[in-house]
Amino acid sequence: MFKIFKRKETKINNGDALNLHNIPEHIAIIMDGNGRWAKQRKMPRIKGHYQGMQTIKKITRAASELNIKYLTLYAFSTENWSRPNEEVNYIMGLPVNFLNSFLPELIEKNVRVETIGFTEKLPQQTIEAIEEAKAKTAQNDGLTLIFAINYGGRAEIINSVKQLTKDMRRDPHFDEKAIDETLFQSYLMTAQYPDPELLIRTSGEQRLSNFLIWQLSYSEFIFHDKLWPDFEELDLVECIKTYQLRQRRFGGL
Ligand code: FPP
Repeated sequence: MFKIFKRKETKINNGDALNLHNIPEHIAIIMDGNGRWAKQRKMPRIKGHYQGMQTIKKITRAASELNIKYLTLYAFSTENWSRPNEEVNYIMGLPVNFLNSFLPELIEKNVRVETIGFTEKLPQQTIEAIEEAKAKTAQNDGLTLIFAINYGGRAEIINSVKQLTKDMRRDPHFDEKAIDETLFQSYLMTAQYPDPELLIRTSGEQRLSNFLIWQLSYSEFIFHDKLWPDFEELDLVECIKTYQLRQRRFGGL
């Protein structure tokens, strides 16, 4: 049934079994540690990002096989522009490389590609590759693979407030009592998606770094020690198993 299970059957049968009836609908990942991975190998940082892109392919396949509905990956933050030009330019080229080599498989696997973030600020070539992928996968209804590119949680919230205020001004009958969490959520870049049940951050760092700060309010957090380029399909499965052992109470008892 599952290729990732078959391939490493003995390992996956160790310990608790994965409950296929309690797979998170939406997983968000902060893919951290590319630079350190490269440094450990005395390679330039961009090699780490290249290897990180290969990991995205593996984890996308696994997520699709596990019937996860939404996978959101933090690829570039609004703060990442402060990195050296060479690194920024390289990361900006990665979606083009990724989609050139992987789009046919995404289409074949019924994956829909989407983005959140201020993508209009990306280089033209990157925008075009992303737009093509979105258009060619728009009808797919398997996994939705969402890249957060030039994304920042605070900037997203400010942007939503601006849009909401604009709509309020346009409607003389607008009553501020109508502003509640549901309405506000409809202005976020993630309006079409459920909140992630699970956040994974690799590389051992334990912070949110301005990622989905509204949407992760009630999510389970797993901080994994592996660097992103080393993260494997079975690490994702182990994270889901850990998630399944947690009790989500949403503020109740
Ligand atoms: C964090 O590691 C990683 C990033 C800022 C970039 C992540 C980008 C990719 C994995 C590729 C994107 C590809 C596509 C297809 C959109 P870091 O550089 O901060 O690592 P460090 O903390 O070890 O220095």
